[in-house]
Amino acid sequence: MIKRVGIIGIGHLASYLVEGLRKASKDIEIILSPRNVEKSASLATQFGATVAKNNQAVVNVSDIIVLTTRPEDTRVVSEKINFQPDHTVISVAVGLSLETLKPLTTPATVVRAMPISCAAINQSPTLLFPDNLRARELLALLGQVHILTDESIFTPASVIGAFYGWIYALLNEIISWTAQAGVPHQIARNLVLEAVRGAANMALNEPKKGLDIMLNTLATPSGITEQGLTVLRQHQGMSAWTFALNAVYEHLKEKRKLSSVSKKEGGEY
Ligand SMILES: NC(=O)c1ccc[n+]([C@@H]2O[C@H](COP(=O)([O-])OP(=O)(O)OC[C@H]3O[C@@H](n4cnc5c(N)ncnc54)[C@H](OP(=O)(O)O)[C@@H]3O)[C@@H](O)[C@H]2O)c1
Repeated sequence: MIKRVGIIGIGHLASYLVEGLRKASKDIEIILSPRNVEKSASLATQFGATVAKNNQAVVNVSDIIVLTTRPEDTRVVSEKINFQPDHTVISVAVGLSLETLKPLTTPATVVRAMPISCAAINQSPTLLFPDNLRARELLALLGQVHILTDESIFTPASVIGAFYGWIYALLNEIISWTAQAGVPHQIARNLVLEAVRGAANMALNEPKKGLDIMLNTLATPSGITEQGLTVLRQHQGMSAWTFALNAVYEHLKEKRKLSSVSKKEGGEY
């Protein structure tokens, strides 16, 4: 059972993780790195965490350590820390491969994960590679864990982390339109968010049913769903999403290539 979780890099993602961990367990000790004094102190007060005096002190008292620094900082941070064989390290740095992470964290066990901000409400679909009992136990406190069997899948699956952000942009656009058309803003917001939750839950409730089949039951010939879909397609409203997914995928593949070249040359990432 996990008792002590250390988190290094107290920024946006770390805040969501701390909130979700504390909601899931009153017993886990959460130890935070001290950089960004105000944020660490405020999280410590709000969620009953402890702020260590430096990164090494976080590691020294933790069984499992989550590195929530930005990818370029993760290399620098890890190089300066002495890990022990009984440590498990979770890196969430987008684009940093295990090949890059292993020499930086040896002799600890290192895994990659990709939680998203809804970890704060324990609903993060989180990628994990490779499977590891401690990491799985910890991440399961934050939502559904998806264990990948091959690291090459990590890159395309990570693109969904970007898609998660775009959802907010899309929903904001629809809410604004609805409110501008005269629907009170709070009603517009609830209508849109509850419609999305309902659609997601309908699909999740029938895991084997294709979404295209579900859509067919909504798009009555000459009805308003079909009318809007035709306009969306005329304006590349669907293919624009594929272009965006492709762009992020290509970027991550390039980043991964650079990260491993930099490691072989011993240079800075
Ligand atoms: N944001 C998300 O929702 C999300 C989702 C999935 C994965 N990720 C991954 O999570 C990581 C963090 O993302 P983020 O959005 O949370 O970034 P962020 O808000 O910039 O947080 C990173 C934090 O690390 C701190 N840091 C930098 N160097 C450090 C050091 N030597 N020791 C201790 N702390 C140090 C930074 O401090 P300074 O600001 O003072 O430099 C910053 O507070 C990234 O690798 C990203 O790829 C993020």
